[in-house]
Amino acid sequence: MRAQRSRAPNDRADSPALAAECAGFARRLARWFARARRDLPWRRTRDPYAVWISEVMLQQTRVQAVIPYYERFLARFPTAAALAAAREEDVLAAWAGLGYYARGRNLHGAARALVREHGGSIPADYDAIRALPGIGAYTAAAIGSIAFGIPRAVLDGNVERVLCRYHALAGNPKAAPLAGRLRALAELSLDRRCPGDHNQALMELGALVCTPHDPQCAKCPVRAGCRARRAGAEHDYPSARPRRAAERQEWIALVPRRGDRVVVVRTPHDQELLPEHDGFLLARLECEREPRAAAAALARRAFRGALAIGRAAQPVRHSITYRRLLVIPVSARVRGRLPHGARTISPEDASELPALYRKIVRSLS
Ligand code: ADE
Repeated sequence: MRAQRSRAPNDRADSPALAAECAGFARRLARWFARARRDLPWRRTRDPYAVWISEVMLQQTRVQAVIPYYERFLARFPTAAALAAAREEDVLAAWAGLGYYARGRNLHGAARALVREHGGSIPADYDAIRALPGIGAYTAAAIGSIAFGIPRAVLDGNVERVLCRYHALAGNPKAAPLAGRLRALAELSLDRRCPGDHNQALMELGALVCTPHDPQCAKCPVRAGCRARRAGAEHDYPSARPRRAAERQEWIALVPRRGDRVVVVRTPHDQELLPEHDGFLLARLECEREPRAAAAALARRAFRGALAIGRAAQPVRHSITYRRLLVIPVSARVRGRLPHGARTISPEDASELPALYRKIVRSLS
C-alpha cells in the first residue's frame, strides 16, 4: 500500500494547501450534484416558508417518508400566517405519523413568533432564523443558504460522516476537539457563491453515496481526494460512538370506548411518552402489576372511576427512540359524561393520531 501522508488535517494549520483541497472538493461535488440531484418537491421552490417546513420535516425522517406529508401540510397551511392561525390540534393532526412531535409543536410556535415579530415572513438573517423556536444551527444554515443564499455550512451526522472520511479524522464528531475542526472544514469547503446548492449537494452525497454502512465509493465524485478511501478504511470513519442500548419496556394503554366509538383524551404534560397529544393514557407496567389493575389506577385519576374496565387485548409493538415497547391495550366502557378535554372518534379516523395510538385502535378491530 502507498504510504499515507503522516500529517492528518487536524494537525495542520489551515494552510493555502488545505484551502485549495477544500475548494477542489466543493468543485467536484457541485459538478456531481448538477447531474445527480433528485427532483424533490422542496427543490422546486425558494419560498423560505416551504424550505423551512421541508427542513423541519427532514430532521430525523427519511426523504421518501417526508414527501406526502410535506405536500399535504403545504396545501393545508400554505403560509406562515395560515399556520399561525391554525389550532394546535389541527397542526399536530397534520403531523401525525411523522413522529418527534415536538417538531410540529415548535413549528406552530415559530409561525406565531414569525407573525408577531417579523410580519409573517422568515427573516433573511442567520441569527434571526436561529432564534426561532425549534430551529437549531443546522436548520438555520439550511434555510438561510437555500432560501436566501446566506453563506453558512450545514453540519449534521451526514456531513460529519463525509468530512470525517474525506479527511480521515478520528474521534467523536460531536465533541471537542473534532466538532470544532469539522465546523472549520465545513465552512472552509463551502461554495460561497452557491451555498444552498453546496449544502444540498453534501446532504445528497451523505444520503445516496457516502452512506453509513455501505458507502458507494465507486460512484463518489470526491473519491480521488478521500483519505479514508485511499487507506481502504472508509468503514473506520467516523469513529464508533457508544449508543444508548435498546430497552424493552411493557406499558398499558387505557382505551375507553363508547358504543362503536373510541374516546381520546389530551394526554397530560408529564406523561413520559407522547405528552400533550390527543390519544390514550399510558402507564409503565412494573413487573408485578397486572394490566387491568394498572388501567384501573389510570381510570380513577382521569375519569374519576366512571369507567368499567374491560379486557386486555393483544399487545402492540412499537419503538420510540431507544424504547422497544410492548403496549397492552386495556379497553373500558365510559359510564358517565366525558371528562373535560375528552372526545370520541370513529376508529376509521385514527389516522389523525400518532402512530402508536393508531396501531392500538387498529388492534381493537
Ligand atoms: N435532508 C435535510 N435537508 C434536506 C434537503 N433539503 N434535501 C434532501 N435531504 C435533506
